[in-house]
Amino acid sequence: MRFSYFLIPLAFALPNLASANTCEVDVSAGDTWAYDTKAISVPSDCEEFTVNFKHTGEMSKEGLGHNWVLSKTADVNAVAQAGSTKGIENNFLQQDDDRVIAYTPIIGGGESASTTFNVSALDASENYTFFCSFPGHTFMMRGSLKLED
Ligand code: CO
Repeated sequence: MRFSYFLIPLAFALPNLASANTCEVDVSAGDTWAYDTKAISVPSDCEEFTVNFKHTGEMSKEGLGHNWVLSKTADVNAVAQAGSTKGIENNFLQQDDDRVIAYTPIIGGGESASTTFNVSALDASENYTFFCSFPGHTFMMRGSLKLED
């Protein structure tokens, strides 16, 4: 009967596990040049997919801000280069850059931002990369995103 003490907290944890395969994902970054997530898999039965991005650090967005930008892997360097001179007021992105599939604003420590995109924009045969467009961050801050077959 002593065992049941251990089962109770486990039962409370189960709803979180059961909802893991939803049409959204949580991604965070702190006061370093790294996301906590290296790879994201988008279920193909989702109509829309949402990324909830959180800056868990303490630095200001001007000092060590981050965003979450999605493009085809082949477009990352060109998108980042085009955005690098556009200023933080434009989230270091060229406005209306059609190579950008989704993005959040640049945020600082303690802030959160979400972005939602149509899964129909993704092709299962294509490689996508998410990255931070803050100048100097793009090489370190990136991960892969795939549409599940
Ligand atoms: Co960054």
